[in-house]
Amino acid sequence: APAEFFVRVGRPRGTARANLPIGAEPVDRDTALPPDYVPSDLVPVAEEFVLGPRTILLRREAAEALENMLRAARREGLELRIFSGFRDFATQRRLYLEAVARQGPKQNGTASPGYSEHQLGTTVDLTNRDPAMILSSHFGETPEGLWLFRRASEFGFIHSYTEENTEEVGYKPEPWHLRYVGRERASELLAQR
Ligand code: DAL
Ligand code: ZN
Repeated sequence: APAEFFVRVGRPRGTARANLPIGAEPVDRDTALPPDYVPSDLVPVAEEFVLGPRTILLRREAAEALENMLRAARREGLELRIFSGFRDFATQRRLYLEAVARQGPKQNGTASPGYSEHQLGTTVDLTNRDPAMILSSHFGETPEGLWLFRRASEFGFIHSYTEENTEEVGYKPEPWHLRYVGRERASELLAQR
């Protein structure tokens, strides 16, 4: 069957013309965002923290928190880069169709369009300076990956997909994928783990 067949049609709650409150946005494998949800406060992440020549957008609060976090890592000699941030519905749809074409409809690495935390504008994919670590399960074992597990919540970020929650969330572990939820919520979520 063509990959298009597997795109699920979301039943979003509301129309979300307004920006969703950070840390409480309803989106997961069973909960879709409206296809046209695009936060109005997206800003480009500082170039020094972006992998390669591209523009990556995040909601302003998340961009500031990310830059603070990556500056703190840098002070400890660790260089982190962002390679994905906000993704609109159309971009997620393209990635999803590519993933299904490559790995089949049961793939658990790429969200259906509308169901990705990346559409929130608060979620980041990070790597270090080793190109082999991009989207690698081994990123979590690098000094930079380990530092994120220890310190990200202090900056309001939390790993969405871990070794422990694979069954619950329906995605395989992603040590590179962190969602900004604010410091308070991040430490609450961490305490629950
Ligand atoms: N890789 C995560 C699940 C996403 O596509 O949002
Ligand atoms: Zn991600």
